[in-house]
Amino acid sequence: MAIYDEASKALAFKFSDCYGNSLMKISIIGTGYVGLTTGTCFAEVGHEVTCVDNNPEKVKMLLEGKIPIFEPGLEELVKKNVAAGRLKFTTSTEEGVKNGEVVFIAVPTPPQPDGSVDLSFIEKVAREIAVCLTPDLGYRVIVDKSTVPVKTGQKVAETVKRYAAEGCEFGVVSNPEFLREGSAVDDLLNPDRIVFGSNDDHATMIMQKVYEPFVAPVLVTDVESAELIKHAANSFLALKISYINAVGRICEKSGADIEKVAEGIGMDDRIGRKFLNAGLGYGGSCFPKDVKAFIAISESLGYPFDLLKQVEDINEEQRKLFLDKIREKLWVFQDKKVAVLGLAFKQNTDDVRESVAIKLIHDMLAEGADITAYDPQAIETAKTFGQLDGKVTFAEDIYSCVDGAEVLIIATEWPEFANANLSKIKEKMAANLIFDGRNLLDQDAVANAGFEYISIGRPATGSPA
Ligand SMILES: NC(=O)c1ccc[n+]([C@@H]2O[C@H](COP(=O)([O-])OP(=O)(O)OC[C@H]3O[C@@H](n4cnc5c(N)ncnc54)[C@H](O)[C@@H]3O)[C@@H](O)[C@H]2O)c1
Repeated sequence: MAIYDEASKALAFKFSDCYGNSLMKISIIGTGYVGLTTGTCFAEVGHEVTCVDNNPEKVKMLLEGKIPIFEPGLEELVKKNVAAGRLKFTTSTEEGVKNGEVVFIAVPTPPQPDGSVDLSFIEKVAREIAVCLTPDLGYRVIVDKSTVPVKTGQKVAETVKRYAAEGCEFGVVSNPEFLREGSAVDDLLNPDRIVFGSNDDHATMIMQKVYEPFVAPVLVTDVESAELIKHAANSFLALKISYINAVGRICEKSGADIEKVAEGIGMDDRIGRKFLNAGLGYGGSCFPKDVKAFIAISESLGYPFDLLKQVEDINEEQRKLFLDKIREKLWVFQDKKVAVLGLAFKQNTDDVRESVAIKLIHDMLAEGADITAYDPQAIETAKTFGQLDGKVTFAEDIYSCVDGAEVLIIATEWPEFANANLSKIKEKMAANLIFDGRNLLDQDAVANAGFEYISIGRPATGSPA
């Protein structure tokens, strides 16, 4: 966390030096994961930010100083920037449009049943912004930060034009967001790149000012290319995950070790080691929906992207194959005491959207397993969004979770699980069986502690008690 702290302090200093207290007036419509973290980080570098959300409970919480999501470092930054008068929250889009010379859109773009993107939130915000525009406000830049199909910018521009009063001036920009949940603050303050697409010089100049405080390479493209970059990037990352999981299956069949294979592949800097972690597959609010969307977009443009269909199939099979391995050992799930460590879709977040851990738990519940689960942050979201309330026993820590369990499953890569006391776990459990869906544990340490250990793409170690 030191990185964001130090870097942001330095940046804030630099800007207050050059420009006084505030740089630009920015509004964000949609104060969820992306809107809240982006708005807060814009405020942190010196902009004056108004965050709008149409969920009054969320805005009430924020006005009371409560943060609706868990994201490392976020709470401190929100408090600091609210206190400095650079960050405000409201339910009024009109206030947002009035306050912000640049108006970002960060509302959901969920999938429809056929995989294509539901753009109704975007269309609604475009109309809402349009009716709040007045000619006396002057030029406004409307920036789409939500992940949207190529050509959405055109539709937003047409919609705003249709609903806005005569004489209102505006430009539409696409500015895809690459933050990762769990390290969003750091990603936003120290981005590896900034991409925005604009077909309008005035809007380009304003966007350059917005991003001036950030030390990162900036790629300026046309609107359509920027829109496409986001779906192409996320689909490529998902492809890397499915690729290494497929290679993991070959490792299991041949006696090779996926960790060593990934190391060897990743040392090639044309490939890189990141996103070559074999496991239960990808989840979360972005990859599953973005891959689906890119397949649908490609198909609608006349190109059937079969490679990405395979990426999805491999991802879905990955969880089922893991379940098969557990079933093979337990024979039947009915009444088996199963401990699950991890509910969030990945470490450092409380987000359980499309979490593989949650899906796995539902699979096992359907077969009658008696499940106790623990996650450092995601128990409340698992109860509500993961629909596990009343179906699973939630433990307060690792050791009460494994108490009496016949099998332990690691489903999320929290560092706390990697550092757990294996001897203590062994004492508490009723049997010595661990399934590690994230290859998180050290094989030697697990073997020394006397466990039978089955992971992904690596030979099983230990033997039944
Ligand atoms: N979460 C991520 O890691 C991530 C990363 C990059 C891009 N994205 C993209 O960013 C977009 C937003 O994602 P998110 O995770 O922040 O979603 P989210 O559901 O957490 O937040 C969206 C917010 O928009 C609000 N909202 C909806 N309609 C509104 C309206 N008309 N006026 C005001 N507020 C409105 C909702 O109440 C909600 O608080 C999506 O397109 C997503 O694909 C997400």
